[in-house]
Amino acid sequence: MSPRRLTQLTDAFSKKPRNLQAPVASHFAHYNLVHGYKMTVHGQEFSQTQAAGWFAGKTFGYDWTSSHFPIWAGLLARYRDLPARVIEVGSWEGRSALFFMNFLPRSQLVCIDTFEGSEEHRAHPEAFASDLPEIERRFDTNLAPFAHRIEKRKAASAVALAEFGIDGRRFDIAYIDGSHASADVYGDGVLAWSMLVPGGIMMFDDYEWEYLPEPRSNPKLGIDSFLRAFEGQYRIVHMGFQVALEKL
Ligand SMILES: C[S@@+](CC[C@H](N)C(=O)[O-])C[C@H]1O[C@@H](n2cnc3c(N)ncnc32)[C@H](O)[C@@H]1O
Repeated sequence: MSPRRLTQLTDAFSKKPRNLQAPVASHFAHYNLVHGYKMTVHGQEFSQTQAAGWFAGKTFGYDWTSSHFPIWAGLLARYRDLPARVIEVGSWEGRSALFFMNFLPRSQLVCIDTFEGSEEHRAHPEAFASDLPEIERRFDTNLAPFAHRIEKRKAASAVALAEFGIDGRRFDIAYIDGSHASADVYGDGVLAWSMLVPGGIMMFDDYEWEYLPEPRSNPKLGIDSFLRAFEGQYRIVHMGFQVALEKL
């Protein structure tokens, strides 16, 4: 693969919203957004600079996530002092998990991941070969201080989510960031939704991540299918690069 193609690929996988400030500003028009992603959410200040401290001394090869923190801070502010039950599909090196652990200090988190990467990672070993064998070890090390609040489940999401459902587990917050295949995203959403309590928040990543040529290989088709299938059962509380729903 040429260096140029490799750069294009890693840019694509960086998944950063093309214009962060605009969606944040429009979504939080009713919040006090100031320069440097500092904002006041329900009377509490959230600052990206402060949040950066959560990641000091940790090992990461990628950051696909922290640009979403201002949005999450607003959506999840009401859980800050509550023992929220959180489930995430797709943990990678643990960046989103570290957000939940730090922003929601009384929460418990279930992390589901095969730690084998997604189809697009495995399809491009040139880009990810050195990182893929490391992601689980990085996750374990990065999250070690929070081990007592984390339940790590190393499995395919379809299996793990079904098992949690059979066990009668319930969650207040679900974050869907695993496989990008639309059928998997739809399936992860359906299974997580069945365990989400009314009033709970479900967030889908990568709604606008449309880098693979086939629509079925990108999350959007899966998220749109979910939105149609469950119409009337949710309120959209955010729509941009990510989609967040409140369960009615
Ligand atoms: C984009 S990464 C998650 C990023 C992470 N949330 C963060 O903040 O850095 C997607 C993850 O989903 C995992 N994954 C992909 N398909 C999966 C599946 N079917 N079941 C479980 N995990 C899966 C991959 O191993 C990878 O670690």
